[in-house]
Amino acid sequence: MADSGTTSGPELLVVLSHRAGTPLRGQLESALRGAVRDGRLASGQRLPASRVLAADLGVSRRLVVDVYDQLTAEGYLTARAGSGTWVSDLAVAADSAPDADDRTELPSPRWDLRPGVPSLAHFPRQQWRRAWLSALSGACDADLGYPQAAGHARLREAIAAYLNRVRGVAATPSTTLICAGFTQGLDLLCRTLRAGGARTVALEDPGLPHRAPIIRRAGLTPLPVPVDADGLVVEALPERGVDAVLTTPAHQFPTGAVLAPHRREALLAWAGRAGALVLEDDYDGEFRFDRRAIGALQGLAPNAVVHLGSTSKTLAPALRLGWLVGPPPLVDRLVEGKFLSDHGAATLDQLALTEMIGSGAYDRHIRQTRARYRAQREALEAAVLRHQVPLRLTGVPAGVQTLAALADGHDPEDLVRRAATAGIALDAVTRYQLAPGRPARSLVIGYGNITPHGIDGAMAALARVMDRGPTARSAAPHAESRARRRGERRPRAGRVRDSVRVEGAV
Ligand SMILES: Cc1ncc(COP(=O)(O)O)c(C=O)c1O
Repeated sequence: MADSGTTSGPELLVVLSHRAGTPLRGQLESALRGAVRDGRLASGQRLPASRVLAADLGVSRRLVVDVYDQLTAEGYLTARAGSGTWVSDLAVAADSAPDADDRTELPSPRWDLRPGVPSLAHFPRQQWRRAWLSALSGACDADLGYPQAAGHARLREAIAAYLNRVRGVAATPSTTLICAGFTQGLDLLCRTLRAGGARTVALEDPGLPHRAPIIRRAGLTPLPVPVDADGLVVEALPERGVDAVLTTPAHQFPTGAVLAPHRREALLAWAGRAGALVLEDDYDGEFRFDRRAIGALQGLAPNAVVHLGSTSKTLAPALRLGWLVGPPPLVDRLVEGKFLSDHGAATLDQLALTEMIGSGAYDRHIRQTRARYRAQREALEAAVLRHQVPLRLTGVPAGVQTLAALADGHDPEDLVRRAATAGIALDAVTRYQLAPGRPARSLVIGYGNITPHGIDGAMAALARVMDRGPTARSAAPHAESRARRRGERRPRAGRVRDSVRVEGAV
C-alpha cells in the first residue's frame, strides 16, 4: 500500500470516465465493489480520504461520503472512528477474491503510465456541451451542408488568432487548414509532397511510432535522424536528398529535449540550403511548467515551416480536431487533398471549438490543466525520490510524459514486462526507436492521465519490481535503503539519495 494511504484513484477514474451517462454515484459504487471483489482493493487496505478521492475524481465530497456509507452498510468497507475507511475482512472472505499469484493472465493495468493521453477525467464536459449546443442553435442551414474542405471560416479565424497569440505562429485564416488531428495533417502533407515529386522525409529518432508508416504509405522513405539533449541533431541531416524533416522543437517526443537556439538557427539555414520543408509537430506547446513556452519555429520562417497542432493534448484525442499552417500554395494543395480524403471536418464540432475559444473557456481549461500536469509531474519527481526508484527523469518539465533513464543495469524491455505483471503499464524507449543500434536504457512515463496518488502508488510498486529484478545486485543500494526505512537495517546516510538525480525539476 502506498504511504499516502491512497491507492485507488486511477482505476476508479478509468471506470468513471468510461461509463459516462450513468449516475456517478452508481458508477463509483460499482467500481468500488468490483475492486474489492476482484482483489484490486485488498482486505485491510485503507481507502483515500473522501476529500482526496472526491478531488481525484472531480466529484463532490458528499457523493464519496454517501458511497462509502453505502458500502460500509453492505459490508464491503469498515469505518474506523478517527482513522478513515478500510476494506473489510468480511468482504474479501465472502467474495473469495483470487490471490494475485494464482492468476495466469496479466491483470489489466492498475497504474497506466503509457504516454499519449491527457487527463481524460478532466475533459471539460460541461463547457464542451454548452459550446456544442450553442454551435447547434447558432448554425445556419448552410452550415449543415457539406463543410468547406479547408475548415469552417470561423474556426480558421479563431485558430489563426489563437496560434498567433499563444504560440507565435504567423497564421491567417487562408494559411490555416483544419484536419483530423496531427495524424491526418501529416498524412495529407506526405501524400501532397510525394505527388509533387518528393522522395524522403527525415524524422526524429526516437519519436512517435506511427510517423514512419504514414510516411511510407505515402510512397516516401523515412530517414531517422538522432536526437540529443539539444533536440534534433541538425548536423546529421544530409545536405541533399531530403525533402522535409519532421520535428518536435518545443518538447521533443519522447526525450523531452527542447531544440536549442543554435539548432533552431541551423535547422532553418539547412532548410534554406536543401530546399526542404520543416514540419513542426507542436503537440503539447501549451504545457511548459518552468517558464513561458518557447514560441513556434514557424513564426521565424513561415515559408519554410509547416506548423501542426491539435486538441489531442489540450482537450481530448477523441475529438480528432487539429490544424496545420503553411505557405499558401502548399496549403491550397493540402485543401484539395483534404477534400478528396473526407470532404472536410465535422462542422458542428468545429463550431463548438470556435465557441470554446471565443468564450475564453479553451484558454481557461488550458490554464487549469497546465497547473494539474505540473502537479502530476512534481508528484512523479517526489515519488521517484520517496520510493528510491533508480530512475533519473530527463528533459524539461513540460507536457504529459517524461523520459526516465534507468540508473542501474535494468534492461528496459524486461522491466516493462515485469512491471506489467505488477499492474504497471509503461513503455521502454525502444518502442519509439527507429534505427537499431541506438538502444537507450530508458523508460517513457506518461503522467497525464493518472492522479498524484496513483503516481505515488505506481512508483512504490515499480520500486518493488526493480528490487526483485534480474539485476537486483546493481539495484541493491535502493533495496537496502527501502529496507532501512522499514527499520530492517541501520541507516548509512547519503549513499542512495546521492545516486538518484532528477533533472529539470520544476
Ligand atoms: C509527438 C506527438 N505528436 C502528435 C500527437 C497528436 O496526434 P493527433 O493530433 O493525431 O492525436 C501526439 C499525441 O500523442 C504526439 O505524442
